[in-house]
Amino acid sequence: MAITYQKALITANEQMTDTVFLLKAQWSAPTQPGQFFMLRTWDKAPLLSRPISVHNWENGIVEFLYEVRGTGTDLLSQAKAGDFIELTGALGKGFPVENISGKVAVVSGGIGIAPLYYVVRALVQKGCTVDFYCGFRDKPYGLEKFEALCSNVYLATDSGNYGVKGFVTDLLQPEGYDAVLTCGPEIMMEKIAHKAMAAGTAVYVSKESHMACGIGACLACTCKTKGGPKSVCKDGPVFKGEDIYADC
Ligand SMILES: Cc1cc2nc3c(=O)[nH]c(=O)nc-3n(C[C@H](O)[C@H](O)[C@H](O)COP(=O)(O)OP(=O)(O)OC[C@H]3O[C@@H](n4cnc5c(N)ncnc54)[C@H](O)[C@@H]3O)c2cc1C
Ligand code: FES
Repeated sequence: MAITYQKALITANEQMTDTVFLLKAQWSAPTQPGQFFMLRTWDKAPLLSRPISVHNWENGIVEFLYEVRGTGTDLLSQAKAGDFIELTGALGKGFPVENISGKVAVVSGGIGIAPLYYVVRALVQKGCTVDFYCGFRDKPYGLEKFEALCSNVYLATDSGNYGVKGFVTDLLQPEGYDAVLTCGPEIMMEKIAHKAMAAGTAVYVSKESHMACGIGACLACTCKTKGGPKSVCKDGPVFKGEDIYADC
């Protein structure tokens, strides 16, 4: 699929929580669930564009769900409908939806929920049954859309104010699922991958990494895999769990 660079018109940039925003922009070229874009709304500084996953792509609109962490995402949060955003993408290898069937567990931690809505949509569209497991520190966000599509939604929070008190890693029992898909903090994905591998269930993880070019040219995002060093931006961000976590 061709990588495109384009200035895209922002149609909305809604604040969902104190730190989480949902930006929508016009984008007609196809994207795959699990892919990401390098994006920027600023001119010179910071130098690098920032990688953000596709949260959804539908009817010529691409959506990004993002958390303000530093300078780039703070500038992004200041963009308004009617402004333009520079998008390069869609980049990377996403979830292999074509190889997944049956009963699927999708597991998120915090802002790791961002790339998972689009893949849930694609899986449900092809006839999979999807259970969604999510963990948040406290108040959850963005769950309504998952509740509308998934057979079950299981919620864990660190605070215990919403759902079950504890970690989402404790909620998931991978036995009985045909596949597990996950995105979230590294420690969470590692636990989920090990549980799934122990149960003999296929598992796919969407990895995060510091990035510079986003297209496999600078080696800033190299990670260890069973098959040797790979770039998260070009060979991933989605990998088979066994390629990352099976003693490499
Ligand atoms: C493939 C991919 C997809 C992503 N998708 C999303 C998404 O959908 N929604 C979302 O909110 N975030 C996503 N991220 C993370 C997002 O790219 C970073 O939060 C963002 O680049 C931070 O930029 P900043 O200028 O705001 O922060 P900076 O000022 O650059 O950094 C602030 C802090 O965040 C840390 N940080 C910055 N970038 C990363 C990173 N890539 N991984 C780990 N820590 C980092 C820095 O070390 C620093 O402590 C994704 C990252 C990757 C690699
Ligand atoms: S960000 Fe340059 S190789 Fe991945």
